[in-house]
Amino acid sequence: MSGNNNITRPQHRQLRFQVLRYDPATPAVPPRMQAYQIEEADGMTLFIALNEIREHLDPTLQFDFVCRAGICGSCAMMINGRPRLACRTLVRDLPDEITLAPLPFFELIKDLSVNTGKWMRGMSERLQTWLHTQEGAPEADIRRIEERMEPELAEQIYELDRCLECGCCVAACGTAQMREDFVGAVGFGKVARFRLDPRDSRTDEDFYELIGDDTGVFGCMSLLACHDVCPKSLPLQTQIAFLRRKMAVMGLKGAS
Ligand code: SF4
Ligand code: F3S
Ligand code: FES
Repeated sequence: MSGNNNITRPQHRQLRFQVLRYDPATPAVPPRMQAYQIEEADGMTLFIALNEIREHLDPTLQFDFVCRAGICGSCAMMINGRPRLACRTLVRDLPDEITLAPLPFFELIKDLSVNTGKWMRGMSERLQTWLHTQEGAPEADIRRIEERMEPELAEQIYELDRCLECGCCVAACGTAQMREDFVGAVGFGKVARFRLDPRDSRTDEDFYELIGDDTGVFGCMSLLACHDVCPKSLPLQTQIAFLRRKMAVMGLKGAS
């Protein structure tokens, strides 16, 4: 019987991490970069790497994950300076040195964990991101909700509904870093979604009230980093350009 026990295994890299550590609950301890080193494994995602660090090197390291499948949006963080989902990032696509930091803009909970949910709730309430039907006409409303929708339009709405509320677009946006009341690309995506929906009874004037100022479309400087980093590749560029044009016309009408 012949056998070869000298199986050559591929050499795995040593990955060196620099992770920004800070706990707002203990402000006396200043923010610091902490180094960790682990061996890369086949098919390793950043989610797996961070769990390995927490399990074997440092149980105090805090970060968020729920679905591990790019669905919940909770694992967004700055990975070598770019907002990305850790569970959808393969370490083989990253260099040996990996720097991790929490998403800027959002309230820091600890280390890599930020409270995107609180900000998203506030944005959603402000922009009223739910279907508005006409008051006082319940039967007409029901008929309208049940009406057949063109598949193409349904597809456009569905595409915008794929937003994970991960916060990557806001973290990447220069305007958001300068003004905390900016609704961000995620907000524009939501407005665009309800504006497209024929079941929503709001008019362009109503949408203008929501985003027709510097905290909305007129604050957007068309930097388009939002479009580049969106992990769901939502058509943010097209939707923002459309809303800007539409709202500019509305603004001119209002001024005349
Ligand atoms: Fe995340 Fe894209 Fe939604 Fe922004 S628009 S919150 S980047 S999924
Ligand atoms: Fe910001 Fe995107 Fe506008 S990056 S400035 S919301 S185009
Ligand atoms: Fe849900 Fe990454 S853990 S998107």
